[in-house]
Amino acid sequence: MYRKFPHLSAPLQVGNIILRNRMFSAPMSHPNITPEGLITPQMTAYYELRARGGAAVVTVSEAITHFRTGKSHDRNVNLNADYAILGLSETARAIKRHGAAASIELSHGGYRSNVDSAEKNSSSGEIKYGPSDTILPDGKEVREMPVDVIREIVKSFGEGAALCKRAGFDMVMVHGGHGWLINQFLSPYTNKRSDKYGGSLENRARLALEILDSVRGAVGPSFPIEFRMSAEEYIEGGYDITEAVEFAKLIESRIDLLHVSTGNLNFNFNRTHPTMFEERGCNVVYAAEMKKHVKIPVVTIGAISDPVMMEDIIASGKADAIAMARHTRCAMPPLSSQGNASKIRASGKSTAASSSSIRSRIAARPMPAGSASPICTPTRSTGLSADIGSWKM
Ligand SMILES: Cc1cc2nc3c(=O)[nH]c(=O)nc-3n(C[C@H](O)[C@H](O)[C@H](O)COP(=O)(O)O)c2cc1C
Repeated sequence: MYRKFPHLSAPLQVGNIILRNRMFSAPMSHPNITPEGLITPQMTAYYELRARGGAAVVTVSEAITHFRTGKSHDRNVNLNADYAILGLSETARAIKRHGAAASIELSHGGYRSNVDSAEKNSSSGEIKYGPSDTILPDGKEVREMPVDVIREIVKSFGEGAALCKRAGFDMVMVHGGHGWLINQFLSPYTNKRSDKYGGSLENRARLALEILDSVRGAVGPSFPIEFRMSAEEYIEGGYDITEAVEFAKLIESRIDLLHVSTGNLNFNFNRTHPTMFEERGCNVVYAAEMKKHVKIPVVTIGAISDPVMMEDIIASGKADAIAMARHTRCAMPPLSSQGNASKIRASGKSTAASSSSIRSRIAARPMPAGSASPICTPTRSTGLSADIGSWKM
């Protein structure tokens, strides 16, 4: 069969699963979450539409494994909450019924926890722990994380991963980039410790290694673990691509996929979330460098929306898969099926029926005045983002 994008549409084996193509839906936090951090039906629908759009993997964003110390903003999923498994399993099921692999990002905000949320007054009053003592620009005090708290957090990543696996997720992503806890320990800019978690690269990498061991111990040998990292911090006194490569070599045997982003959102948000002024595919060069040094598949991310470019990145060996956040295609049922929901249900086509019920659930929800719809525009062809539906793959 003729395929217009043969490399982009090729399956990829990762651990014990085969991904249907090389396009991943990257984590993007979603506002429809309860104050306790429980997933709502609207949030499930948001991820379901991404799976329906054709992504190989849909990653649920920022599930916090140690909520008391690690909640980074008010859109986090709380893996410690009673009944968290209900929303998790519903979401994993919704993603998987469209043929995508369900993944979830495990994270901890470190010294950004409870500090920079949209609702600033919601801070729990908990101590803010980071790698080292410091005072933030807003005057908030950060304390060096004691080793017993480190141990609790390491354990919580394993427990969180086990919970997500039990809920039906096919894989997990450990968030080690963008200036959150693991990245704060890795960065010589923020990590000034003098114990075994600070100083040399091996020491600064220790938290990441312990967390990955904890996760691996919890999920077993063939369950895929993706590690998201920043390959360059762009900060004087931070780490660069040379040290990032050495770090990647240290973690390689513990993970199945290396997800290469760049930047630190405390200092250069325009790199973690490239604006329209950044070059398209601005991080590809970093993924390509990583590929020279590791044997596991490498994912690139950042300002990539053109399938021709994606095909070229994979065909030329610069990366093995492309993740997209803002550019992921979401798919709604074709308009012609909207009026035929009952017929579709009767015919047993659960995909269309479930999406149509999602649509009515969302439509029924009152939105604050002036806010945008929480869902993508109903469409078969957006013309804006990578439109898998019209591709000859
Ligand atoms: C609205 C929004 C929310 C995001 N939330 C998360 C998140 O929860 N976790 C995360 O690791 N990255 C998050 N990101 C970053 C994206 O995963 C991605 O790295 C970044 O947007 C660059 O990819 P893109 O150019 O394809 O959008 C978010 C990005 C956006 C735009």
